[in-house]
Amino acid sequence: MTAFRTLDQADVKDKRVLIRVDLNVPMEGGRITDNTRIRTVIPTIAAVTEKGGKAILLSHFGRPKGHDESQSLAPVVPVLSGLLGKPVQFAKDCIGPEAEKAVAALNPGCVLLLENTRFHKGEEKNDPEFVAALAKLGDLYVNDAFSAAHRAHASTEGIAHKLPAYAGRAMQAELSALTRALTSPVKPLAAVVGGAKISSKLALLSNLLAKVDLLVIGGAMANTFLAAQGKNIGKSLSEPDLIDTAKKILEEAKAKNCDIVLPVDAAVAKKLEPNTPSRSVMIDAVGPDEMILDIGLQSVALNAARLAGTRTIVWNGPMGAFEVSPFDAGTVTLAREVAKLTGQGLLSSFAGGGDTLAALQHAGVLDQFSYVSTAGGAFLEWLEGKPLPGVEALRIK
Ligand code: 3PG
Repeated sequence: MTAFRTLDQADVKDKRVLIRVDLNVPMEGGRITDNTRIRTVIPTIAAVTEKGGKAILLSHFGRPKGHDESQSLAPVVPVLSGLLGKPVQFAKDCIGPEAEKAVAALNPGCVLLLENTRFHKGEEKNDPEFVAALAKLGDLYVNDAFSAAHRAHASTEGIAHKLPAYAGRAMQAELSALTRALTSPVKPLAAVVGGAKISSKLALLSNLLAKVDLLVIGGAMANTFLAAQGKNIGKSLSEPDLIDTAKKILEEAKAKNCDIVLPVDAAVAKKLEPNTPSRSVMIDAVGPDEMILDIGLQSVALNAARLAGTRTIVWNGPMGAFEVSPFDAGTVTLAREVAKLTGQGLLSSFAGGGDTLAALQHAGVLDQFSYVSTAGGAFLEWLEGKPLPGVEALRIK
């Protein structure tokens, strides 16, 4: 963490502090359905206001094409204000006269939220003029939005070169957790990777092969690997054109001493529907008209036993079609095993990515992992070993 300036080094008193947060929260009919990302940034905002700084919040919301009231950040104000326990001002633009007036009127210790940065095309283009218009509003810049750090946008990257830049508390926590997870983990290190497609996780798999001792693969992506081993996978979802790639990954893993573990049994059914008739079979016994929809309980037991021999686990992706009962059993049981091992102090567990959070929540173990990242794309790109522009821009040169 010495590579980044943190809030501890910032003199914020009476300063205009532009804080990039990620308020891209799930919303239905103008109502926030999950406030996790808002809670995450409270410590940074509080640290700035408690030291007499003026907290000016920047965030994107959704993927609007230009100005679009349905993607306004206004509904966040009451929730943020409730969590902070103080009023939050709102400006209907993030640059220009409206924003400048609101910033000029802001007192030390107070909080102002600016409207969605993506209402301006310059945000995603990282346009220098837009960067300058944002930078004009602050004396310091704090980035507390790890989950948006994979975007080289004006408010995540460009502005960090214009103002003294610092990592916020949530950003610090995320970077230190991910360093413990993958950059310098306690070994042996395991990864649990699931999800539907190998094609969307090729970069991830190849980076993990070089780093982990054990790679547990589940979800529909395991089907392509099973097919590559000559197993009959019936009508299971798979990517036949990636069978050669899967073979290469299996060979590469051997060469790198990375032990790949695939399911030995599965829950199968003829269709993916809630409570559809299903059966539990060994992989060799999948029928020609059946689909593998979850890892089986023998696989869970084997995986859990192997994972118990490791000291660090990184988890991304569900083991089966966990949204549809009973095909959530493999993910839920394995997640609870990992939570148990974590609780016993035997290992550290790190998880992240959209579906993964939902799956761990469903298993009731979200708070029992050592660290769960609220980032989706950024977590994945970190696991892929890619530098994240928003993080790189914060490094002390
Ligand atoms: C996310 O939800 O993963 C971040 O807020 C980034 O959003 P984006 O994918 O629209 O850039």
